[in-house]
Amino acid sequence: MPLVAMRQVLDEAAKGGYGVGAFNVNNMEQIQAIMEAARATKSPVIIQASRGARAYSQDRFLVHLMLAAVELYPEIPVVMHLDHGNSVATCKSAIEQGFTSVMMDGSLTEDGKTPSTFEYNVKVTREVVELAHAKGVTVEGEIGTLGGVEDGHGAGVSGLAHVTDPDQAVEFVKQTGLDALAIAIGTSHGAYKFTSKPTGETLKMNVLIEIHKRLPNVHLVMHGSSSVPKELQDVINQYGGKLKPTWGVPVEEIQLGIKNGVRKINVDTDNRLAMTGAIRKVFAESPEKFDPRDYNKPAREAMQKVVAQRMTQFGQAGHAGDYQPIALSEMAKRYR
Ligand code: G3H
Ligand code: 13P
Ligand code: ZN
Repeated sequence: MPLVAMRQVLDEAAKGGYGVGAFNVNNMEQIQAIMEAARATKSPVIIQASRGARAYSQDRFLVHLMLAAVELYPEIPVVMHLDHGNSVATCKSAIEQGFTSVMMDGSLTEDGKTPSTFEYNVKVTREVVELAHAKGVTVEGEIGTLGGVEDGHGAGVSGLAHVTDPDQAVEFVKQTGLDALAIAIGTSHGAYKFTSKPTGETLKMNVLIEIHKRLPNVHLVMHGSSSVPKELQDVINQYGGKLKPTWGVPVEEIQLGIKNGVRKINVDTDNRLAMTGAIRKVFAESPEKFDPRDYNKPAREAMQKVVAQRMTQFGQAGHAGDYQPIALSEMAKRYR
């Protein structure tokens, strides 16, 4: 089946009451890990690339790898999504490259670090909605800002500095006409989200529930949703890594989110940890090895395991076969 629009996947997920993991990729092994996990669990998938990933892979490599994924796994509905587009131009170029979904993150200015104004956010998001919907492409926007920039995108402060205001969320959806809304509830990108297991004070699930009550038909997105499992941290540290103790978003909290309108869950860090741990283990145990396949293969397997586990936990497993792909041209007609 061809690449599908994210809107179709999220609409299906809402009907079925499940969430869909959106996993970041930069290279072939990561795409293969996700596709194998999707096949094993019969899951629809959202594969996303950040600006950094697009620069790293020169875009065209990623696009062609995605086309290979679609060709080799015809039974899996696949969305190709731009993560944290920083400007209208970035979103436009992703659409031109064949992405079927884009995020316009106007919660920050173009530098990807400085919180913007509500008016700026509405303006750029609205602009992207107009140009994307004309082509049937899905748009995710963000209101409130995530914390953390140590290895990703965010405001560089605590996740609690810019928690989403539910009134603003309602107004933002009304003024932009977007398809999916990312909200900030205390999480950050990267490994260092919480210094102890999060409580209602640090991970504001009550804010998410309130937003869902006010916007029951809007697909919500949780960014910064890696769980940063201790087992993955331990493997890295056991083989010479130096991670400080840290906590992520517990899977039970994500499952509570899914019961309250969360349809897309962004996960990157857990996969980075899994791959790095696997590579460190090979280097430590077999220092004589130098064939990249000797460490890329275990890294790919470690990521596949994490992704398959999340697919099962988020509830998307078993749903790949529910889809009759809707062409982007048909999606464009529906928006009109
Ligand atoms: O937004 C954060 C994702 O983890 C992507 O990170 O910008 O380093 O590719 P990146
Ligand atoms: P993590 O750093 O928690 O994996 O979050 C990834 C993310 O939100 C990408 O947009
Ligand atoms: Zn994010």
